[in-house]
Amino acid sequence: MDNTKIKKEILDLQKKINEWDNAYYNLDSPIVSDEIYDTEINKLIKLEKQYASLFTYEELKNSPTQKINASSLTIFKKVNHDYPMLSLNKAYSLEEIQKFIDNIKKNTLDYSLFIEPKIDGLSISLKYHNGKLIQALTRGDGLVGEDVTQNALQISDIPKEIDYKKDLEVRGEVYLSLSIFNELNNNLKLKGNIPFSNPRNAAAGTLRQLDPKIVAKRNLSAFLYYIINHQEHNIKTMNETFMFLQKYNFKTTNIYKVLTSLDEIEKYINDFKNQKLLLDYETDGIVIKLNELKYYDMLGQTQKFPHWAIAFKYEPNIAETKIKSIFVTIGRTGLVTYNCSLDPTQISGSIVEYATLNNYNYVKELNLNVNDKVYVKKAGEIIPCIIGLVSYKNKIDVYPHIDKCPYCNSLLYNANNYLEEYCLNRNCPEINKRKLIHFASKDCMNFFSMGEKIINKFIQLGYLNSVTDFYTLKEYIASLTKLDNFGPKSILKILDSIEKSRENSLESLLFGLSIKHIGQKVATFIASKVLKLSNFLTYNFDLLISYNEIGEKIIGSLKQWVSEQENINIVNKLIDLGLDLKYKSNIKSKTFENISFVITGTLSKPRNYFEQIIKTNNGNIMNAISKKTTYLLCGDDAGSKLKKAKELNIKIISEDEFYNLLKTNESK
Ligand code: IVH
Repeated sequence: MDNTKIKKEILDLQKKINEWDNAYYNLDSPIVSDEIYDTEINKLIKLEKQYASLFTYEELKNSPTQKINASSLTIFKKVNHDYPMLSLNKAYSLEEIQKFIDNIKKNTLDYSLFIEPKIDGLSISLKYHNGKLIQALTRGDGLVGEDVTQNALQISDIPKEIDYKKDLEVRGEVYLSLSIFNELNNNLKLKGNIPFSNPRNAAAGTLRQLDPKIVAKRNLSAFLYYIINHQEHNIKTMNETFMFLQKYNFKTTNIYKVLTSLDEIEKYINDFKNQKLLLDYETDGIVIKLNELKYYDMLGQTQKFPHWAIAFKYEPNIAETKIKSIFVTIGRTGLVTYNCSLDPTQISGSIVEYATLNNYNYVKELNLNVNDKVYVKKAGEIIPCIIGLVSYKNKIDVYPHIDKCPYCNSLLYNANNYLEEYCLNRNCPEINKRKLIHFASKDCMNFFSMGEKIINKFIQLGYLNSVTDFYTLKEYIASLTKLDNFGPKSILKILDSIEKSRENSLESLLFGLSIKHIGQKVATFIASKVLKLSNFLTYNFDLLISYNEIGEKIIGSLKQWVSEQENINIVNKLIDLGLDLKYKSNIKSKTFENISFVITGTLSKPRNYFEQIIKTNNGNIMNAISKKTTYLLCGDDAGSKLKKAKELNIKIISEDEFYNLLKTNESK
C-alpha cells in the first residue's frame, strides 16, 4: 500500500473512533462493544507508531489515542478536577504485565503489587470537607468533570458523612448491579421503552439524570479504590488505602490481594476468570497497581495514564469476518431466529461458520446486510454472535425483512417490534419437527439417542407426527429393525427408553410439550401445583399469580395452550396411553417449610447451589425483599436488597448462619 493510502486509512480510523467516543462519552449510547473499541484503538496505536513520519504534529495530537476523551454536552455544572482523572494502560498478556513490572523494578527498591477487579462502571471523584460529602464529579474529559453531587447523595454505598474531619478526596467507580439492571430493563421493556444496552450505560444514564429521585429509585452501587494526596492522611500503601476506606464506611471490593510474583498474578487472573461469572456486577478485567505509594510521583504518568498501574484485559474472543448469507430458523414454539453464514474464521481455537443475529430488530439496529464486514464474538459455550460492523455505514443498508416462514411459506407474525416474531402455522413441518426433537431430548422424556436424524427418518416414514406417536412406534418394530443406517440394537434401545419414560415426572413432560414461555424451571413450578397430568386441562392457572415465580405472560400462554383442541387431544391421548404422570417432588425434608429466602451478594458457591438446598428442604425462594421474606441470605458486596432488608427489619444471615439454620431446624 502506498503512503497516501495508509495515511487515509489511519485518518479514517481516527474519525471512526472519534465518533465512537462521542457516542460513548457524550451521548451515553455507545455504537460498539468494548471489545471492538479496544481492538480498533489498539490497531490505531500500532499504525500511528509505525507510520508516525507520515503525520504532522497537529494530526497526531488530534487523534483519539492522545485524548482522554469526551467534552460533555449536558447541563450539569462543569468543575475542574484538582488532579486529572486518568485512564489506565492495558495489557492483554503476561508478557505485557512483566514489562510493566520491569519498569517498576528498575525504579524502586522494595515493591509489591496490589491486584483487584476492574469494575465496569463510570469513575467518580468525591470530596469531603469537615466529614461531609460536599462534591461528586464525573470524569468528564479527565480535566473537567460534571457536578453530580445531588445524585451521588442517593447512592447508599457512598457515605454522606464520615467520622474523619480532614479534607479528603476519594475516587472510585459507580455501577449498576446485574440484578437491578435486569429488573430495570424488564420494566422498560414492559412499558414499551427501549432497554439499556448494558449495565454501564444504564449506570451512566442514571448518574446523569437531572432528577435525583430517579437516581434514588434505581439503586446505583459504588466501589471506592483510591485516595488523592495519601501522604496527608498518613497512608503508605494501596492496602492501607483500602483499610482506611473500610474504616470510614466506604465500600471496597474484597477480592483484592497483595502479591509479589508474576506466578501469583497469573493464578489470580485464572481464578478470577471463573469467579467473575458469579458476581452480581460486570467487570472488564483486573487492575494491577504498585502497592507502595511513595514511588508514585517518581514513576509519573503520560498524558493519558500513570506508570504505577495497568489494566489486564482477558482475550477478547472476537474476530473480523464477512456475512455470506442471512436466513431465519424456526424454533419449537414457532419463534423466529435470524442467523447468518460467515466466511469461516477462527476464534479461540475453533472455526466459526455461522452466527446468530437474534431477531430482525437486532439486524436493523446494527444495520447489517450480506457482504458486510462484521465482528463475531464467541464466549464460552454460547452460540457465536455478530456484535457489530467493522466499518460504520452512514446510510440505512439493512437486509430486507423475511416475511414468510421458509419451511411452510406462511406469513410471519410480528409479536413485539420485531424483537419477537412467530410462525403461527399449526401445521408447519419445521415447528413440528423441533417439538418432537425437544420432547425426546434429555431434559424432557430422555429417549435413547433420539436426535434430529432419526426423528427426520421416522417423520418421513409416516410413523411420527405428534408427540403421542412415540408411544405407538413399537407397532412398527418389524420395519424399524430393518432400517438402513440404524442398527436393530439401537432401535430396541430407543423403544425401551420410550417405555421407560412412562415413569418420568410431570415436570419433564410439561417442559417437553413446547408451550410458549414454559422453560424447565417454570414447568417444575407448574407441576408442583398441578400435581398430575389429568389435572392440567382444568387447572385454574390464574391462581398462580399469587406466587412470585411466574407472571401474566406465562399464565396467558398456559391458558391459551389448554384452550386449543389439538392440545386437549394430545393431553387426553397421553393419559389414555397410560401417561398420567405425577409431579416428582425432590423435596427431601420439610426443614424450611413456610420459610422464604432472598439471596444476594457474592457467596462461596453459585446461587443455584443454595436455591437447591432451600427447595429440597421445602423452602421458598423469592426474587425481591418483601414483608413475606423470612431471611436474606447475604454474601459479599450486596447492594439494594440488603438495604431494603434492613429497612423492613428482615433477618439477614451469612452463609455459615444458613448452614446452622439448616442443622438446627433439622434436629427439631
Ligand atoms: S485505578 C489512574 N482501579 O477504569 C486511574 N480504576 O480504564 C486509577 N476502573 O478511569 C484508576 N475499576 O474509572 C482503578 N479497581 C479499579 C478500577 C478502575 C475500574 C476504571 C477507572 C479508570 C478506568 C480506566
